[in-house]
Amino acid sequence: AILSIRGSQRLDSRGKPTIQVDLTTSHGTFRALVPSGASKGDYEAVELRDGDASAFQGNGVTKAVENVDEILGPKIVESGLDPAHDLKKIDELMIKLDGTDNKSKLGANAILGVSMAAARAGAAARGMELYKFLAGESSSLQSEYVMPVPFMNVLNGGDHSGNPMAFQEFMIAPTGASSITEAVQWNAETYANLKSIIEAKYGKAAIGLGDEGGFAPPISHPEEALDLLVEAIAKAGHNGKIQIGIDPASQSFFQKGSYNLGFKTKQDNTLSAAELASLYHRLLEKYPIILLEDPFGQDDWDAFVEFNKICSVELVGDDLLATNISRVKTAIHKDACNSMLLKVNQIGTVTEAIAAGQAAYSAGWSVFVSHRSGETTDDFIADLTVGMRTGHLKSGAPARGERVVKYNRLMDIEDDLRYRNQKYTYAGKNLRFAHR
Ligand code: PGA
Ligand code: ZN
Repeated sequence: AILSIRGSQRLDSRGKPTIQVDLTTSHGTFRALVPSGASKGDYEAVELRDGDASAFQGNGVTKAVENVDEILGPKIVESGLDPAHDLKKIDELMIKLDGTDNKSKLGANAILGVSMAAARAGAAARGMELYKFLAGESSSLQSEYVMPVPFMNVLNGGDHSGNPMAFQEFMIAPTGASSITEAVQWNAETYANLKSIIEAKYGKAAIGLGDEGGFAPPISHPEEALDLLVEAIAKAGHNGKIQIGIDPASQSFFQKGSYNLGFKTKQDNTLSAAELASLYHRLLEKYPIILLEDPFGQDDWDAFVEFNKICSVELVGDDLLATNISRVKTAIHKDACNSMLLKVNQIGTVTEAIAAGQAAYSAGWSVFVSHRSGETTDDFIADLTVGMRTGHLKSGAPARGERVVKYNRLMDIEDDLRYRNQKYTYAGKNLRFAHR
């Protein structure tokens, strides 16, 4: 049983306050830290912030901490629920205590911190690694684990950097590697080559990093970014073995019914949804792109549906779906995409995120696990990815501690499986359907 739950205010990778939860059982104290997005969608669960302008520009989370200490903690301890077997019930109790649809009363940040810490406590009580415990929670206990393809965001734009680039993320995906360890190495080598290419082309001032650890050189057209990636992959010697994913995060430049690619420079470069779709089709034809996320805004269902009809790549819904099972079901019904981005803090509990992922799987979709642009050193999503066998995840560049900690944890898991003589594979080209 749980003995105590304590919240604290700590910092995330952008220097903004976030929630830390310490949950104590007879097996020890288990900690979780909560991430936070910048290009947030309207359908996400609510991150509770103080709004008191005298501290952290209003971004403090002391009320959410209070909700952990005075409401969630005492009620869960009193319930006697056991994280070893009752994670779903603990999450349900918190949802009930909050009482709103979007967790706006107690805060999705407060609730998620408790949920993640409870999962860690549950794994420890059962004497198992977190990934194995989460495999049980997602009923994907299997003889063979699948290590994910790491999609690393090595060029940052959109709301994550100060360059003129409208598209938010350009990711490299080593589908031709044979293990997560080799995949991480190839990506890191490509990243190092990208750095010298950017330095030679744009000068030393251009090698500064965006929020997710990728470079943010002064480029604006997506083709400039993709050309840089293609050159870096070739220079690193991984031609044909590393593919590309793009997340334009187009909600951030959706203005009055169309898409303004000049939104960061106050220029007008406005495209209709159809024009934007043809731009994507041109890029898909010219470059080795295998994944496209949020090509259209969170309410532009028609554009998604049209695009999905002739889309040959993985089409991921992020702001569109918000890891919310009811939006996933709507999207399945409309046939709006073929993959769900999974961000635990979009929905606010671990078991609801898993349930949304299972709904996606049941429609034949893929699930793509994601960090947030505001991150912490918590490596929970690495275990979640392996536990759910999603076959791929994104956690930013191979740089900055809060990004790298997830990739390092994945290599720990791979080592752990090898030492235990447990069977595992690397998702590689099968990354969309590794769960089958
Ligand atoms: P965010 O961006 O964490 O800033 O919302 C991530 C994404 O759009 O995938
Ligand atoms: Zn996204």
